Formats: sequence, structure tokens, C-alpha cells
Amino acid sequence: MLVIGNGAREHAIVWKLAQSSKVTKIFSAPGNGGIEQLAQCIDIQVTDIDNLLYFALKENIELTVVGPECALVEGIVDKFREKGLKIFGPCKKGAMLEGSKRYSKEFMTKYEIPTARYASYNKLGDALEGLKEFTFPLVVKADGLASGKGVVICNNREEACDAIKSMITDRKFGEAGREIIIEEFLQGIEASLMCLVDGNKIIPLESARDYKRLLDNDDGPNTGGMGCVSPNKILDLKLMSEIKIEILDKVLKGLQNEKLDFKGILFIGLMITANGARVLEFNVRFGDPETEVVLPRLESDIVDIFLKTIDGTICQEELRWSPKSCVCTVLASEGYPEAYEKGRDISGLEGVDRDILVFHAGTKKENCIRTNGGRVLAVAALADEIDHGRKKIYENINKIHFQGIQYRKDIGI
Ligand code: AMP
Ligand code: GLY
Repeated sequence: MLVIGNGAREHAIVWKLAQSSKVTKIFSAPGNGGIEQLAQCIDIQVTDIDNLLYFALKENIELTVVGPECALVEGIVDKFREKGLKIFGPCKKGAMLEGSKRYSKEFMTKYEIPTARYASYNKLGDALEGLKEFTFPLVVKADGLASGKGVVICNNREEACDAIKSMITDRKFGEAGREIIIEEFLQGIEASLMCLVDGNKIIPLESARDYKRLLDNDDGPNTGGMGCVSPNKILDLKLMSEIKIEILDKVLKGLQNEKLDFKGILFIGLMITANGARVLEFNVRFGDPETEVVLPRLESDIVDIFLKTIDGTICQEELRWSPKSCVCTVLASEGYPEAYEKGRDISGLEGVDRDILVFHAGTKKENCIRTNGGRVLAVAALADEIDHGRKKIYENINKIHFQGIQYRKDIGI
């Protein structure tokens, strides 16, 4: 097995793979200080597709699982498949659903999938003129991949002009901002739904709620995610059956009609508004930190799930879930999501209770475990009630130290 990536998401995938009786050896490229306790880490970066391919062929890797979107958008799945290697994830064409926001909005429009009203632009003058068609607040988004930073919520014309200019003229996000979209602002509660797509079916995993803002009470800047809970209570049975008809069935029809040959995870970011569920975005891979709360609840063998999804034979019965809830809080470096220091010693990990899951993100093992990124650890717990899980997590976080540690205190409230 080969798991590509180096975040807490990939640690959770490796941890779940390691529980399978079908797995003998796991490699991870490049991995991190936690993954290396379960897998052999290989020093190949996630976008170095040629070397990843060379490695997978040399080692006869039976199954490769891709964590981050950049490798998928670059076409890693097409290259592995050409050589007859099994790999979990969409081809380059399907990865466009995350790689281009304009493409994903066109897809949603064509298949009548409910989403925010939008327009796309590639010229500054047209975009500024186009602002007239929207009321404030509105949302300006870079078309391409921008590591989650290419979305700006603008409260007035001045903020919108600044955001548009920074993308189209100043190329703040490089080529990703060559095109932009302007979008209606949706009010509501967000929910994350990761779905298995095998070409014939779309099957949602258990739901999750991501806490994207840095500070308690959803204050401060957006981040890659500061915590998560599963399930997301807002997605009750009634709403899920509406989502199936209004969104999932239409998405599947679109994937098939467009011949996207999608085999992997389609992550649907939803806003639950007063008028029903709307799609905010598609991602073409597991979510982070959603994976850290959803996989601990999965009781089935994940190898079977990956292989059956690739073969086009996955079915709902294959997925068995713990009725427990899972809560996770992210411990981040001082300064994150802006510039931060690396290389700070992490202590106290050995004192954490046995039923607590500590997934590593930006960590590195030298003579001790040190910080090596913005988000450092994701601490997760299963419990009958979210309140109980939250209590366990915060008791254990008190045992973990590194200089400048910051985290939210309100995950799951
Ligand atoms: P995206 O990458 O498109 O999901 O955007 C990242 C985050 O920006 C989302 O998770 C929302 O919190 C917010 N966002 C994006 N689009 C909208 C919208 N149309 N209305 C309100 N918030 C949005
Ligand atoms: N948690 C949102 C994402 O993975 O993009």
C-alpha cells in the first residue's frame, strides 16, 4: 500500500489501513512524524508524479491512495492507471471539479444542482462591471487551486474591488487567479459530506462539520480547519433524503454523462440555508480534518472499500458505522494561518490516554518529535455523546506541549 501525502488526513488513512488483515506493508510519501510509526516514509514529494510512479512500479504497490488534490489535478491517477497500477482517486478530467471553480459551477448549472448564483470573469473591467449584478456581501473566488485561500467574502464594493484586483491583476494566487468567479453569499450552516463514487453509484459516508475559523465562536481568519465533529446533527434523515434527490442523484448523472470516470471520494461542501441545501464546493479527495473524525467511526475494512470503489462494485452494505460520535481538535503553531516557526519540541504525547487518537500533521521525528507545519496535531476521540468526547479531548490536550501551541476550546459545542 502507498499513501500519498503528509497531513493528519493521511495519518488517519494509514492508521485505518494498518487495521486491515489484508495489509502487509504500508509506504507513505512523504509522510510525517506520526505516519512513520505505522508506515515506511519515502522522501518523494506529492507532486513528483514521475518518481511516485517509478517507486510504485519498483515496489509492486497493490493499491495507492492519494490524499491531496494537487497530485490529482496534475493527473497522477491517469499515469498510474496507464501502467496498470490500482489507484484510488479521480482522473485529471474528474479532478477539474476541484481544480477549476468555473468548471464545477458550470457542471452544477448544467445538471441543475442547487448552488449560489455566480458569474465568471477573466478581465478586470468585466469583473468590476459584473459586481452590479450582485448585492453585498458577496464572494470572490480564484478559479484554480489556492490551498484553501482563494475565497474572499466581501462586505462592500471596496473590499470586492481589492479582492478582484489582487487576483486578476496582482496574481496573488498566481495562475489560479487568471479567472475568477463572483458568487452570491449564502447564509446558513455548513456541512461536509464525503461520498464514495465508483462510476455506478454515489454513497455518502457519515457526515461531518468542519470548524474553519481560527478562533472560538467562529471568529478570526479562515484556516485549513481547526476541528471537526461527526456526525453533523443538521443532516437529519429528512434533509439527507432531499440531498439524495436534489444533489447526489444529479451529481452521479453528471459524472456519467460527462464521462468523468470518477472512482474515489467526491467531497461535497454544503450550506444548509432556509431554502434547503446548496453546494458550496466540490473537492475530489478526503477532507481534512473530516477524515480524522469519519474514519474512526468506520467499522468495515477500508481496503475492501477502496478496492470495490475502484472496481465499480461498492455498495451501501459494505459500510458499517459505529453509532458513537467523534470529535477532533487541531493543535496549531503560533502564527498559523500566517507565517509560523517550525522545529519546536513536542512533549507529553506518551502521557495521552490510550483511547485518544493523535493524528500527526506538521510533525517531524528527529531525536524527538518536533513541529514541522502550521497545523501540527489533530487530537480525536470517539464517545457516546459529543460532550463526553470533547471533555476527554481537552483533558488530554492539557498533557501535550509545544511552544506557541494554539487551538480552539469550543469544538463540538
Ligand atoms: P470553498 O472553497 O468554495 O468551499 O470556500 C471556502 C469557504 O468559504 C466555505 O467553506 C464557506 O465557509 C465560505 N464560502 C464559500 N462560498 C460561499 C458562499 N457562496 N456563501 C457563503 N460562504 C461561502
Ligand atoms: N475541510 C475542507 C477540506 O478538506 O477542503
